[in-house]
Amino acid sequence: MNVRDSEHFVAQLKDEYDLCDDASQADLVLINTCSVREKPVQKLFSEIGALNKIMKPSSKLGVCGCTASHLGKDIIKRAPYVDFVLGARNVSKIKQAINTSKFVSVDINHDETEFAFNDYRPNPYKSYINIMVGCDKKCTYCIVPHTRGQELSVPFSLIFNEAQKASQAGVKELFLLGQNVNNYGKHFSNPHEKMNFSALLMRLSQIEGIERIRFTSPHPLHMDDEFLEIFSQNSKICKSIHMPLQSGSNAILKAMKRGYTKEWFLDRAQKLKKLCGDNLSISTDIIVGFPGESQSDFNDTMDVLNEVRFEQVFSFKYSPRPHTLAATMDNQIPANIASERLTRLQARHNEILDEITNSLENNVLKVYFEELRNDGFVGGRSDNNFAVQVKGSEELLGQILNVKITQAKRMLLNGELV
Ligand code: 5AD
Ligand code: SF4
Repeated sequence: MNVRDSEHFVAQLKDEYDLCDDASQADLVLINTCSVREKPVQKLFSEIGALNKIMKPSSKLGVCGCTASHLGKDIIKRAPYVDFVLGARNVSKIKQAINTSKFVSVDINHDETEFAFNDYRPNPYKSYINIMVGCDKKCTYCIVPHTRGQELSVPFSLIFNEAQKASQAGVKELFLLGQNVNNYGKHFSNPHEKMNFSALLMRLSQIEGIERIRFTSPHPLHMDDEFLEIFSQNSKICKSIHMPLQSGSNAILKAMKRGYTKEWFLDRAQKLKKLCGDNLSISTDIIVGFPGESQSDFNDTMDVLNEVRFEQVFSFKYSPRPHTLAATMDNQIPANIASERLTRLQARHNEILDEITNSLENNVLKVYFEELRNDGFVGGRSDNNFAVQVKGSEELLGQILNVKITQAKRMLLNGELV
């Protein structure tokens, strides 16, 4: 989502600025930030301190994104050389921010202009499209509802236009973005608009030239049977899905206010596997060391890991965040215990991943080639989201081709065209 927000900044500024990769030469530096965990917030201040040392005195420095939302004017108090602060839901105010001294806007109110930006698509093969903003869930560990505000779906006509323009420009893959994509259509600013995520997927898949659709993140709670059917049956929808588990323990899921149980999560994952067959890959997010997490709660998470055998696991130690209920809970877990659980989880996942990747040798995967590497390889992603490379050159770029996997390493599969 931050990548797409950054693209929206460029879309609005591309007539007045050219992109450059050297901050010491730039007239404007924007730094986009995350705030889900504390570490990136600390990194922000070291980063802007270093930028301030190398930037030209006349240049402007803006801090944008979720940390901007959450710290607001305190950023300028702590780092007075920052020229403006623009919260995650204020992307459309970038020109005003540049032209107003010490501009701070961290509004989370709905602003229709935040949906429609000039065309800017740096990747000729894949197009990110925001389908909603904000989040209405109240997961007790999460700062996002505070920084990105209430959930609102982007009108279907805007999404459809953007997708059509992308396909006319030769893009074959759409990547739909939102905090809870499968809740799409619950809140439109026009109360008469009716559409849900399954219908959105169907309509986008009918656009000529679009061969692949990916999305992130769906919420396990909203994975109803209709969605699972459409996901499994529509051949344009890539068979790779992110199912953020967070915890496998029912007590912890309840304390997190996730709204589902371990059993529901396993049922959805198993049903998807049954409907999609071997080709499906499932990724997840897991938090260890949430307040009150006992050894047996953690073992429940390990159970789900072993049962679902996720291809990718993004795992984090719980990080207490301001404006969240969990940060006020009195049963916080000591850092060393959380670290030890994280290490165990990641070690077990690496074993699972090695078994999965090894089993891919000699399989044939459909790969969309997007990246020319300088060592004579061309890289891309399989339908089920594995990074694959083959020997080759430019002419493979933008093509979707069958590749037989000849050598499988943990993060990269080597193959040859068949
Ligand atoms: N501590 C640790 N991880 C968190 N996430 C969100 N909030 C926190 C937190 N306070 C993780 C969740 C989410 C992912 C984007 O970041 O796993 O799915
Ligand atoms: Fe945060 Fe939960 Fe919303 Fe995801 S669904 S952004 S974890 S509050």
